[in-house]
Amino acid sequence: MQTGELYNVIVEKLSNLGTGIVRVDGFVVFIDGACPDDKLKIKISKVNKTFANAEIAEIIEPSKYRITPFCPVQRVCGACQLQFIDYNYQLELKRQIVQDALHSVGGIDFDVPLTVPSPDNIKYRHKVQYPVSQTKVSKRLLAGYYKPQSHEIVNIKYCPIQPEICDKIIEFIRENAQKFSVSGYNEKTHTGDLRHVVLRISTDNGRVLVTLVVNSKKSFKKFEDFASEIYKNFDEIAGVCLNFNPKQTNVILSENTVCVTGQNFVEEKVLDKVFKIGADTFFQVNPRSAENIFAYVKDEIKKTDNPTVLDAYAGIATFGILVSDVSKGVVSVEFNKNSIEKAKEVLELNNINNVELHAEDTAKYLKKVKRKFDITILDPPRKGCTKESLDETLKHTKEKIIYVSCNPATLARDLKYLTEKGCKLESVQPFDMFCHTYHVETVAVIEI
Ligand SMILES: C[S@@+](CC[C@H](N)C(=O)[O-])C[C@H]1O[C@@H](n2cnc3c(N)ncnc32)[C@H](O)[C@@H]1O
Repeated sequence: MQTGELYNVIVEKLSNLGTGIVRVDGFVVFIDGACPDDKLKIKISKVNKTFANAEIAEIIEPSKYRITPFCPVQRVCGACQLQFIDYNYQLELKRQIVQDALHSVGGIDFDVPLTVPSPDNIKYRHKVQYPVSQTKVSKRLLAGYYKPQSHEIVNIKYCPIQPEICDKIIEFIRENAQKFSVSGYNEKTHTGDLRHVVLRISTDNGRVLVTLVVNSKKSFKKFEDFASEIYKNFDEIAGVCLNFNPKQTNVILSENTVCVTGQNFVEEKVLDKVFKIGADTFFQVNPRSAENIFAYVKDEIKKTDNPTVLDAYAGIATFGILVSDVSKGVVSVEFNKNSIEKAKEVLELNNINNVELHAEDTAKYLKKVKRKFDITILDPPRKGCTKESLDETLKHTKEKIIYVSCNPATLARDLKYLTEKGCKLESVQPFDMFCHTYHVETVAVIEI
């Protein structure tokens, strides 16, 4: 197989990164923007040892699941890779992605049920992080998502997957920054002021927390005046913060945030509890879909009478707090100190006194303690759990592990490890948290 060669193919399925897959001459070929059942002419763009990449040269016959994307910039913006595929079929494809990962990575054959849809599949994103730059000549601000595999900003005026108020606030920032001599950031030269705009929007009351991430160690009057002007112009804004991030880094927020005006959080209601979400608080981007996951996990906990629960990789102890009223006691472990501080406030706000908080690495904490828990909830980041933390979890859990995962491949790897240690996989349920993207959230229940 060689670069530039053309082949006629029928797309077999979707990879875990949302690209179409076909097999040609012993090569697995990945095709961007392809839908299963598409009949395509493809052009090979890159050849590796066992796999290749290809572009679509012609759609000979579209799959019956292809639809017209509802966003005008879907093809250039990197955010919603699957928006050209019918939503119900996206749910089936995500189910297949989880089932395939269990089989190919975990060696586990499991009949995975259909993905639970998100209650809303437009206007669902309640966290927005736009990188900012500016045009070369007129110095007008640009803000939006990056084009796929690049750091080129698509200047997004309208984004249907987030609440409309976000478009209005970002447009106001674009239109007015120059009046305050606030320039857009240049990543290559590490110059300019505004690096990112971060919005946290409450699904509960529609209030918005705006954070301007600036390329500066300290505040200047122009930043504060601009922040106040933004605040004055929108009744929906709960507060405007500045985050100081002068480092040459891809990390969006530094640890240094100050609130210029209003309050430094928005309140989110999930099930019957209220959470405070700050600029850098980890909280699910789609709270209504997350609520389905929380309810599912809570139902699983309720199957045991008054259990003790370990909530590991806890963030602001969301799971711990939401299952506290059906548990004897919960221990939430999270290594980010700021999140644990926020969790303390949430416990007070909700009058909860049976959740213990520990700002520590999960494995380190478990190594130190002798206690055992009836149930452990694991909700690690995309890279999954370390063997060490899985071993410690096994030592400290009596009945079952509820594993919440945002990455089917690492979930499958960790399930393989746990089942090889004698655990039994009871159930696997995918949820659609990130509609129109290839991402899928999964809850697996493992009996010990
Ligand atoms: C996917 S988030 C889950 C947060 C929370 N369970 C929720 O639903 O909002 C993963 C969390 O694990 C934390 N984390 C990552 N590695 C950790 C470790 N080794 N020990 C403790 N916490 C860790 C991260 O800071 C992050 O808050």
